[in-house]
Amino acid sequence: MSKRDLLSVTDLDVSDIWWIFELTDSILNKEQTGEVYLPLAKKSVGLIFQKPSTRTRISFEVGIQQLGGHSVFLRQDEIQFGQRESIEDIARTLSQYLDLLIARTYSHKDIELLAKFASIPVINALSDLFHPAQVLSDVYTIWKKKGKVKGLNLTYIGDGGNNISQSLLLISAMMGINITIATPPEYMPAEKIISLAEKISFNSGSLIKITHNPLESAYEADIIYTDVWTSMGQEEEERVREKIFAPYQVNTEVLNTAKNDSLVMHCLPAHRGQEITAEVLDSNHSIVFEQARNKLLVQKGILVFLNQ
Ligand code: CP
Ligand code: NVA
Repeated sequence: MSKRDLLSVTDLDVSDIWWIFELTDSILNKEQTGEVYLPLAKKSVGLIFQKPSTRTRISFEVGIQQLGGHSVFLRQDEIQFGQRESIEDIARTLSQYLDLLIARTYSHKDIELLAKFASIPVINALSDLFHPAQVLSDVYTIWKKKGKVKGLNLTYIGDGGNNISQSLLLISAMMGINITIATPPEYMPAEKIISLAEKISFNSGSLIKITHNPLESAYEADIIYTDVWTSMGQEEEERVREKIFAPYQVNTEVLNTAKNDSLVMHCLPAHRGQEITAEVLDSNHSIVFEQARNKLLVQKGILVFLNQ
């Protein structure tokens, strides 16, 4: 069987996603019952990170170890992705040593190139376009908290054009989650990603809405999700973004507009007082640390799925 990559959630079928969730649960069950389960024994996984990470890198490395594998962290200043040598040559070389590669890049094109020339599976650990491992774990979290995903109303408030928003849009369309994105007109998701999500939603029945009215967007929401206004690599735009996104803060007024039992999610890192108030982030509606914990669980499911 040819290798499979995870560059976007659309690299998976809906049945693959449920399979990953079931694998995640079965791995957790094995851990809880003390069963020895080392599917990555004698496997080496490389991690190339062009940007900082607190959650994704550590949870992947710990997960690899827990599954019996070995992780090799490749620092940006050492590997010099695309500078010391071409991405094609890095991909071909590392494929001789490693069994799987995890990469966090600035440009999505770079990770596509890496995957194209690597003969081993490549996982996108965040690019400018997508963060598939994050949203897989987020939908798993929603499933665990709500007991279902289909028909739930997820509202994302913030930068509609970033990796989290665009990935949530696609995975919601796949899984039958109704998604509303409230974002300024300048920060809409890419046209082609909206079109793809709309096409996918015909099968799942997911309703997609993009609006510029954050308060209205929260009406009847089961989940309110936000992310930073300025993503890694956009630091020069921070001042401009702070002004434009100011009306798109997740605060008590927004939370009160959602359903009484709504959940607040944030992929983290969060900036209290910007995209979300401390009051809401630290409220009992917030599940952000459970969300962070589940990255470790679901990423193990993803690793085992891609290694089969
Ligand atoms: N949520 C997330 O990807 O966090 P890190 O940037 O810390 O990995
Ligand atoms: N949109 C954010 C996500 C961080 C996990 C960024 O790219 O910086």
